[in-house]
Amino acid sequence: MCGIFAVIGSREVSSILGDGLRKLEYRGYDSAGIATIENLNNGQFGKLNIRKSEGKLINLTNLIKKKPPKGHVGIGHTRWATHGKPSEINAHPHLDFSGQIAVVQNGIIENHRTLSEKLQLQGIKFTSETDTEIIPHLISLEIEKSLDCGLSPNGQTLLTAVQKVLSILEGTYAIAVIWSQAPDTLLVARRQAPLVLGFGEGEFFCASDSPALVGFTRTFLPLKDNEVALLTPLGIELYDDFGNRQHRAPSFLKGTELFADKRNFRHFMLKEIYEQPETAQLWIDRFLPMDLPKDNSVALPISKSMLGKIEQIQILACGTSRHASMVGAYLLEQFAGIPTKVYFASEFRYSPPPLSPNTLTIGVSQSGETADTLAALRMEKERRDLTKDSDFSFHQLGITNRIDSSLSRELDNIIDIGSGIEIGVAATKTFLGQMLSFYGLTLLFASHTQKRSHQEISKLSDDLRLIPKQLTDLIKRHDSLSKEIAHLFVDTKDVIFLGRGINYPIALEGALKLKEISYIHAQGYPAGELKHGPIALLDQHVPVVSIAVPGLVYEKVLSNSQEAKARDARLIGIAPHGSESEIFDELFSIPKVSEWVSPLLTVIPLQLFSYHIAAHKGLDVDQPRNLAKSVTVE
Ligand code: F6R
Repeated sequence: MCGIFAVIGSREVSSILGDGLRKLEYRGYDSAGIATIENLNNGQFGKLNIRKSEGKLINLTNLIKKKPPKGHVGIGHTRWATHGKPSEINAHPHLDFSGQIAVVQNGIIENHRTLSEKLQLQGIKFTSETDTEIIPHLISLEIEKSLDCGLSPNGQTLLTAVQKVLSILEGTYAIAVIWSQAPDTLLVARRQAPLVLGFGEGEFFCASDSPALVGFTRTFLPLKDNEVALLTPLGIELYDDFGNRQHRAPSFLKGTELFADKRNFRHFMLKEIYEQPETAQLWIDRFLPMDLPKDNSVALPISKSMLGKIEQIQILACGTSRHASMVGAYLLEQFAGIPTKVYFASEFRYSPPPLSPNTLTIGVSQSGETADTLAALRMEKERRDLTKDSDFSFHQLGITNRIDSSLSRELDNIIDIGSGIEIGVAATKTFLGQMLSFYGLTLLFASHTQKRSHQEISKLSDDLRLIPKQLTDLIKRHDSLSKEIAHLFVDTKDVIFLGRGINYPIALEGALKLKEISYIHAQGYPAGELKHGPIALLDQHVPVVSIAVPGLVYEKVLSNSQEAKARDARLIGIAPHGSESEIFDELFSIPKVSEWVSPLLTVIPLQLFSYHIAAHKGLDVDQPRNLAKSVTVE
């Protein structure tokens, strides 16, 4: 989704803006732009310089290099189109009618139509199709009123105008604003879209995501909802919704994990697939070490008092996170005996089930910024708070890869999956980290409910401890096999993925990965559903990928796969090597593991299969068209 990067200080900022935007590139975008204020008349006032371009950031950075805009303050933006197609005109920053105010925005202004109609009636002409353009016009009108009343053109005047405008905006947003008549001021604000301030030496920054600050500063302060910050080269003033000055100490960004480096891999996605054994090992070292105290099945940060109150679980998530949650729900119900339902966060918000007592609500989001998931969680909290009945209290848990995200700030209990930053838009190692967190919760609930014997719990833990080594072997083998066969699928238009039981969500995830990065239409089904409709699609041009793991539904999946083969479909198996696997035209063999832990392995060939097809087609694997890493609009 859109990324904002802004800076104010005492040196030229145009190349800093370019560097900052590059660090936000992984979030996804289709155009980009910057605005700076060139100081004139000894800093009394200045001139706005704008550079914008459609497409990749390199187009903008080349433009900046060719004609560097001057200025010690600037705002930058990578746009992911919501209102108006990707084009230079719709790219941010947007200017007011006087050409003195520039604004970048991430979010959606829901009442923009009403506001723009009013502005047009006042004779204001719009140049773009965006919802953002109303903001600079509205700020400009407020400033005109203040100047008419005799106020001076300075940062405080801009602050007051911005505060007034924000009070009439509906929706979610993060904005950064500059005004040529206040060249030593940068104004930023947020409502339910992420924005982080950075404290440098003699300069201050603002970005949509903390990794964009690395390399400039490690001292950062996330803005809270509805806060406005006024940045000058000398410092930052923070204000709440009511205009009250706020004082909070910044934090320090830890770790080297925020430095994204492709190492020798061709794409981040491949590197991240290869990092999964490490993700699993780190998770095991943290949560499932060999020396756990006797009465602890897992070292998750969840209090026993909360566990005692939980009779059922509901999980809210989107996309890949939802698939990890579905594996989790299977484990929590079938292994630990806790009724669990998974909801599309975007649906839950507008059609929630009737309130159930003693329910744990889990929000799952690798970015921790997904607007649908955050909104659904907020809605659930609100309606539970309203009942005032303690049986209906909001017991909450977040599972995320970003401990510095909105999700982490808004929920009291968090499992940090600790996968390290993921740059590829298609989630891989964070999917594994999310599933592992659900294995942890399953061990916890299973020992709490005593649904499983001590031996069964120990067996699951021991199987999990073997996963990192198994992943290493699997990735190596399947990387070469998928590379070898990728060319067979380059012209494929449709692929069907089949799985059952605990591997049904993996079929969904395999289909999603293929769609996202190779643009091949793919659909995942529970294998038993094939004969109820999708089988009509099958012929020699529609390959079927079938996940068949020995266990409860092994024979059934094999028969469902046979049904596909009988319709001439090319059959690709994710299954252990053996006489049964001879039905497959291609086999991604997996070790004979317990069905419970199998999703941690069966997903690997599917990730590599999608990756190599997309790479073979020469597609932009890490930044597939139309997608964003952090989906901050509903
Ligand atoms: C798929 C993918 C998306 C995300 C979804 C939710 O590879 O990455 O489907 O899973 O947008 O994102 P998070 O997990 O950040 O809430």
